[in-house]
Amino acid sequence: AYEKIWLAVSVLLILFLIGSVTYGAVGPGVAMVSDTEPAIDSGGLDEDERFSEPRVEQVGENEYAAYVVARQFTFQPDPIVVPANSTVTFYVTSADVIHGFEVVGTNANAMVVPGEVSELTVKVEEPQEYGLICNEYCGAGHHVMEGKVNVV
Ligand code: CUA
Repeated sequence: AYEKIWLAVSVLLILFLIGSVTYGAVGPGVAMVSDTEPAIDSGGLDEDERFSEPRVEQVGENEYAAYVVARQFTFQPDPIVVPANSTVTFYVTSADVIHGFEVVGTNANAMVVPGEVSELTVKVEEPQEYGLICNEYCGAGHHVMEGKVNVV
């Protein structure tokens, strides 16, 4: 009779263990993993069609998307050319370390993190040439890391 009780206890223990493992797998831990998934594909920038060729694309009547890659110590494309009287969304990522993306004289300013995409939308009006600078220390060439945004 004792053997049957032990058997029953063992079976219950095993079921309990399976239950707790299953609970762990569908619990909040899994959601965390998808939250931290990088915005850039694990294949890297060259495998990500948005950034393998940094460029400006027309996406609406007066709407443009600018895909920009920051890397020690440049921005690409350079210059970033966008039409006057339009809305431009910049999608900016980094090929190496943390950089900044600041359009001088405007409030367009973002931190640029490898593996992530910073997004900022601006309205541009008159034709004008803007400076573009990196405002996060990124290495020996940080102080010369700059580009241009040309509104034409
Ligand atoms: Cu890039 Cu400082």
